[in-house]
Amino acid sequence: MTQNNSHNLLKGKTGLIFGALDERSIAWRVALSCKREGASFTLTNAPIALRFGALDKLAKETGSEVLPCDVSDYKQVLELVDATVEKNGKLDFILHAVGMSPNIRKGNQYYRLNYRLMQQTLEISAISLHKVLQASVEKEALNDGASIVALSYIGAQRIFSKYSDMNDAKALLESIARNFGSRLGKQGIRVNTVSQGPTKTSAGSGIRGFDAMYDFAELLSPLGNPTADECADYCVTLFSDLTRKVTMQNLFHDGGFSTNGISEELIYDLAELHASKKE
Ligand SMILES: NC(=O)c1ccc[n+]([C@@H]2O[C@H](COP(=O)([O-])OP(=O)(O)OC[C@H]3O[C@@H](n4cnc5c(N)ncnc54)[C@H](O)[C@@H]3O)[C@@H](O)[C@H]2O)c1
Repeated sequence: MTQNNSHNLLKGKTGLIFGALDERSIAWRVALSCKREGASFTLTNAPIALRFGALDKLAKETGSEVLPCDVSDYKQVLELVDATVEKNGKLDFILHAVGMSPNIRKGNQYYRLNYRLMQQTLEISAISLHKVLQASVEKEALNDGASIVALSYIGAQRIFSKYSDMNDAKALLESIARNFGSRLGKQGIRVNTVSQGPTKTSAGSGIRGFDAMYDFAELLSPLGNPTADECADYCVTLFSDLTRKVTMQNLFHDGGFSTNGISEELIYDLAELHASKKE
């Protein structure tokens, strides 16, 4: 959908968006789509990420405020929730689009993990969702009917060798979403994860072998890999009132990748490879 084509799906809604780093970030695209649909929101990222200064551009474009928060620090999460509620009122939606594995960055294989770094992977990429939700409950920051979406990856269910300890982090992230979904349902609050197909962003490009994962998914997915803008539109539907009874789900937004066994394109490529090996 173009940025001019609004359906006012989020008119009057207030949100909090974690994880926009640069224009390629999925959270950046979600922010633009939420703005298009009439929402207002606070943008947040780790203090170190804010030093790059790119987020100011998005803030200007969307009329939003930027607040710093390292999601692994519960005190900072509490302060963030307080500050955004004080400025904009209670929240109707939250996007958690945060992920990072220092083990992947250092090229540590799954059977050679540094456990201190693994702890950081889990803290930043998964336990942070618990902190955001616990802080929101503690501060009574969520409106009835609010919707929380965290971005996940199919590594939670199926093992992708180069995804290392992020496979574990995504499994934990999805579990935390279900646990909170179960407990917050009485207030009509939904908690879901969107399992996005490989997308060329800064987090994606930090993974060795990402291009191979991207090409494999592109060949296997009947609809092809989803873009960040397409993910953003899907998130908008989940933040909107059109999905009021959807909760505790891990929703695949992957062009059909998760359900397809093999495609004609992959068979063709493998046959070519086979033939070239025989030569
Ligand atoms: N790119 C992909 O292929 C893909 C596929 C499926 C799911 N995802 C998920 O989407 C989400 C967004 O990733 P992206 O691809 O847009 O990449 P990205 O690098 O643009 O976003 C990751 C964000 O996490 C933030 N972050 C890292 N440590 C933090 C901390 N301690 N406190 C606060 N923020 C912190 C980064 O600053 C960055 O903004 C992640 O959860 C990622 O795992 C990405």
